[in-house]
Amino acid sequence: FQASRAASLLPQLLLRRRPASAGAFALLARPASSASGGLPPLTTEIHPGIKRGAFSQLTDADVSAFEAIVGGDHVIKDADEVLSYNIDWLRICRGQGQLVLRPKTTEEVSAIVRHCNKRRLAVVPQGGNTGLVGGSVPLFDEIVISTSRMNSLLSIDPVSGVLVAEAGCVLEQLDREAASQGLMMPLDLGAKGSCQIGGNLATNAGGLRLLRYGSLRGTTLGLEAVLPTGQVLDCLTTLRKDNTGYDIKQLLIGSEGTLGIITKAAILCPARPKSVQLAFLGLDSFQAVLDTYRLARRSLGEILSAFEFIDSESMRAVKQNLGLSCPLGEHSFYVLAETSGSNETHDREKLDGFIESVMSMDGCATDGTVAQDAGQFAHLWSLRERIVESLLVDGYEYKYDVSLPLADIYRLVEHMRTRLDGRVIRTAGYGHLGDGNLHLNFTTPKFDAKVLELIEPHVFDWVRDRRGSVSAEHGLGLKKSQYIRHSKADFAVRVMAEVKRLLDPNGIMNPYKSIWIIWPLM
Ligand SMILES: Cc1cc2nc3c(=O)[nH]c(=O)nc-3n(C[C@H](O)[C@H](O)[C@H](O)COP(=O)(O)OP(=O)(O)OC[C@H]3O[C@@H](n4cnc5c(N)ncnc54)[C@H](O)[C@@H]3O)c2cc1C
Ligand SMILES: *[C@@H]1O[C@H](CO)[C@@H](O)[C@H](O)[C@H]1NC(C)=O
Ligand SMILES: *[C@@H]1O[C@H](CO)[C@@H](O)[C@H](O)[C@H]1NC(C)=O
Repeated sequence: FQASRAASLLPQLLLRRRPASAGAFALLARPASSASGGLPPLTTEIHPGIKRGAFSQLTDADVSAFEAIVGGDHVIKDADEVLSYNIDWLRICRGQGQLVLRPKTTEEVSAIVRHCNKRRLAVVPQGGNTGLVGGSVPLFDEIVISTSRMNSLLSIDPVSGVLVAEAGCVLEQLDREAASQGLMMPLDLGAKGSCQIGGNLATNAGGLRLLRYGSLRGTTLGLEAVLPTGQVLDCLTTLRKDNTGYDIKQLLIGSEGTLGIITKAAILCPARPKSVQLAFLGLDSFQAVLDTYRLARRSLGEILSAFEFIDSESMRAVKQNLGLSCPLGEHSFYVLAETSGSNETHDREKLDGFIESVMSMDGCATDGTVAQDAGQFAHLWSLRERIVESLLVDGYEYKYDVSLPLADIYRLVEHMRTRLDGRVIRTAGYGHLGDGNLHLNFTTPKFDAKVLELIEPHVFDWVRDRRGSVSAEHGLGLKKSQYIRHSKADFAVRVMAEVKRLLDPNGIMNPYKSIWIIWPLM
């Protein structure tokens, strides 16, 4: 074992789990022009089958009405400025929106939406615009309602751990505020430097520590939202327990902006761990990854906070494309196992024990290291978090985010690798193993329709046949909406359509996304 036993991490690390820049760097360093060298093609050119809904056209009178609500400074009309709100983070989607509104308060959002509903103008809610399924940008001329100015932290209760914030607060900033009270945000993801809590809720983002702290469906105590009619839905309770009727806030969580605009949220924050340790292991088969995971659950139990795997292709991408160094030799798989706890001595003893058993178990880990200081901790995590960015360097990326029974997870990667042999630069598999969540990405120098035909719908059919989910955490957005029935029963989809119709009778809220395919059937 390279590092001598589990090392303690520097105390400052406990406040900033990674250097402040770590969450943001993937975004800042994102290759400027991956897909086509310049602007991505218009989404409507790529999806000519999608027709503009029967919405009104924006008029000067509408713009004046919006200026009266939010103030002229916060109505963006300039085409150059509007452009960045039309393009998604992956630079695969480009919409034709002409107007961006940047309200400051719930009342302003409500007045805007009320006007849009009355006039039948379509809108797209937008947070940090880091979503990966094309949900956050317009297709046609939908009006973008950006929550970026709604960025006040409203309260933090250090005793109960409840944090109440406006939707536009950036996740990393909230985490810093939480840290000052000995707390942490219950979710963490590579996009934390840009994504907003409202967007996190709207996508029900999972992230790196769902394994430990659970999903936002459990940690969100309350929320406030503006419904498509403009009415304000106040479910902003901070109670941990409240069994009075239907839990309507759950409808908004994961609704991808199709049922309303989330304006405030109350989140239950866990105590910030006093001790964080990170082990990095090299393994030679996927069975060994599964065995190591089982062992981690058994021997690290309540302190296990993340269990991520990286395959050799993904590791090669971060090494070749970003020049990062991997402290271990060549292996088929790598695993990051993180612990978070309250007693360093105790946690270290446990991690030691775990590593000892892993190394002594036949066919399990063959190599490994433990972060010795904050720098190594950040570096090891960057090997996982920067995979996204490294694959973009290859050129065009076909991304899939599926849930599968653990035994099937890597079979899908191998199956696709064979199917696409010779046609792609690489087939990379990695992800949140502890959550049964595989990220599967294929890259080609540029968009290749033949490759896409080989992947879709085959990959979704494969997942459906094993009762998996076609979207584990990124949502359906624009890109996966036509596959909703692969993961949901027909009648469940009909019920969703009824809910959508009830809350959004004119269909103005983020059209063409998520459950849109069923809308014309209603
Ligand atoms: C580098 C990187 C790593 C990522 N890692 C993960 C990960 O580990 N796990 C994971 O789950 N996701 C991950 N994601 C994707 C994830 O969905 C987003 O990063 C994040 O949750 C979206 O937040 P946002 O504020 O950027 O929302 P946006 O991208 O702006 O919007 C996403 C969707 O939510 C809607 N929306 C936004 N704000 C609101 C609101 N206030 N009310 C209603 N609807 C709204 C939009 O209309 C859109 O449909 C990653 C993305 C990147 C770029
Ligand atoms: C921390 O753990 C060690 C080892 O298990 C134990 O001896 C010690 O009492 C614990 N300290 C506290 C403060 O609980
Ligand atoms: C690959 O795709 C998954 C799922 O869409 C995504 O979460 C991840 O960021 C992508 N990874 C890379 C390396 O681009």
